[in-house]
Amino acid sequence: MFNASKVLEPAFQEQPKSFFWQSITANYAVDETRYLKELIPLAQSNASEHRDVAETATSLIRKVREQDDSVHMVDALLQEYSLDTEEGILLMCLAEALMRIPDKYTADALIQDKLSDADWKKHVGRSESTLVNASTWGLLLTGRVVKMDKRLDGSPSSIWKRLIKRSGEPVIRSAMYQAMAIMGKQFVLGRDIDEALRNAREYRELGYTYSFDMLGEAAMTRDDADRYLKDYMDAIESVGNDTYPNSRAPAPSISIKLSALHPRYEVSQEERVLEELYATVIDLLTFAREKKVSITIDAEEMDRLEISLKLFEKAFTSPVAKGWGGFGLVIQAYSKRALPVLCWLTKLAKQQGDEIPIRLVKGAYWDTEIKICQQLGLEGYPVFTRKEATDTSYLACLRYLLSDYTEGALYPQLASHNAHTVSSVLTMARNKGRRIEFQRLHGMGDALYNSILEDNNLPVRIYAPVGAHKDLLPYLVRRLLENGANSSFVHRLVDAATPIEALVQNPVQELQGYDSLPNDRIPLPVDIFGNERRNSKGMNIHVAAHLDPLLNHLGQWAKKRWEAAPVIGGEKRRDGERSDIHAPYDRSQHVGQVYWTTEAQAEEAWSLQRKVLFPGGSVRWRIVPPVSSDTPS
Ligand code: FAD
Ligand code: 2OP
Repeated sequence: MFNASKVLEPAFQEQPKSFFWQSITANYAVDETRYLKELIPLAQSNASEHRDVAETATSLIRKVREQDDSVHMVDALLQEYSLDTEEGILLMCLAEALMRIPDKYTADALIQDKLSDADWKKHVGRSESTLVNASTWGLLLTGRVVKMDKRLDGSPSSIWKRLIKRSGEPVIRSAMYQAMAIMGKQFVLGRDIDEALRNAREYRELGYTYSFDMLGEAAMTRDDADRYLKDYMDAIESVGNDTYPNSRAPAPSISIKLSALHPRYEVSQEERVLEELYATVIDLLTFAREKKVSITIDAEEMDRLEISLKLFEKAFTSPVAKGWGGFGLVIQAYSKRALPVLCWLTKLAKQQGDEIPIRLVKGAYWDTEIKICQQLGLEGYPVFTRKEATDTSYLACLRYLLSDYTEGALYPQLASHNAHTVSSVLTMARNKGRRIEFQRLHGMGDALYNSILEDNNLPVRIYAPVGAHKDLLPYLVRRLLENGANSSFVHRLVDAATPIEALVQNPVQELQGYDSLPNDRIPLPVDIFGNERRNSKGMNIHVAAHLDPLLNHLGQWAKKRWEAAPVIGGEKRRDGERSDIHAPYDRSQHVGQVYWTTEAQAEEAWSLQRKVLFPGGSVRWRIVPPVSSDTPS
């Protein structure tokens, strides 16, 4: 059994790669208390490390807060519309709902429904950031309110009422889209890769490098997938041909989402994924290697973890990637499987003798993961349920990533906007002599990383989305959810009411300070209905730990041929018409046959039954038509 507290022991690391593969699936929904108890010793700091981290984090936060422009406009917007206000939630709902509504009439109806019960006017004029006001007014009154008529300043409430009457929902709808476009601009570097490369120059002058993410995910059709593939290929071409003369920072790379590249990227289509999607990935890698552009596979939903690792292994061990070191992937620390995955990847890298770049993140799909498990009625969650637990897992993974075992096998790329996490990286990596890099998202953590670049000789890579507004929404919603949450570091950082001491608390200690390690306000999926009833129990067929026992069980019946036939007087009759039966999921599989009952057999069965029911034999019977209103009874 995988035991996180032992990962730094030589005997544990000597176990074969297959052991770690088994551990990945076995840890899918491992008991949170038990597993966190194993992770805590790995994540914990000794007194001097603890002090160093707190000091570094304090000084970083001071610097960030001292900079007037440090509170990014979007951060301010999110602060204003925090998720714990009705308007914040509404903004989220609208952005997410609007992207799924194809026609403007339904969009208007939704906006009317939603805007009527929010108190937008409360926010107007409260924040000093132009964006908050512009966006608030944009939400209220269309784009023109960005340059608002002075006469309207006085009483927003009555203006609002008047305008909604005058402008109507279509105008509000376009205002809504415009507000989203304003936010989009903060998060997207360019509409296409060439514009992005031009816009990137300003930051590259400061010493940053980039990983360009071509927006697009969850392809629904082959055409979608082809379009996204073309975007990636064009991006590789442009980035490879770019001759930016900065020798200090590493070369820019490309991040890809596998869900963009195949419309059926799912476990039930494993064969197609490992053939068709694999072929696409190989095309991308071949071109990227030729152009000297590294590739990172983004991490998406938990259900795709195992299949993504199978695909990664197949591509990584192919001749295209052998001897390269430019093909990496993302690991999400909120996953209970993060550490076993890192151990497995170390084995894989050592087996081949090539380094794998690992971007360690906390994870951006937390809300979705929780909801999916509740819908399925699973016994547990694949993600941690307290933020401090995710932070603890991040620190445990970090400790492992910086250990001697991963030297030459995994290249740590640490991605976070949290000053405490970043300070932990700086402290734990000090004197290790390991090559590492930091990563941040475009539009976030500017001030924090400007300080890091100034004071440390470490590369910082900006993950920069590139693409059209229509492809931005899922990404934008993730950023809004992540930053709008009042537990998020960015949210607390820009909140002047949160003292620095609160921001530099050690998450492992905070976690241990709770009555229970798992979040007692998030019931297990089976318990979400409380005392009312137990949730119907489900299983997750995207995870080998669930699917394999089911398939094994089904396998025992695979050879059995089923036969259905009438039984009369204890004797099976096979003289009726015969039909072959095929498996509904694979019509080529013959699973048995049925012999239909003939009319004579039915009569025979009935007369036999009649003798049992009416031994005197005086009752006559006949088949009667069904009773209807015009049939006399
Ligand atoms: P913090 O505020 O310290 O942490 C916030 C995070 O804590 C949340 O995002 C969530 O992961 C976790 N959390 C919050 N509440 C809870 C809770 N109740 N229980 C458990 N955990 C909780 N994400 C991906 O999923 N896939 C990617 O491929 C990916 N690529 C990225 C690339 C880069 C360069 C960067 C910077 C980020 C990337 N991310 C990716 C997004 C990343 O996961 C988030 O930005 C990150 O989680 C925010 O962490 P933080 O340390 O900046 O902030
Ligand atoms: C996301 O798309 C950054 O990959 C991360 O949310």
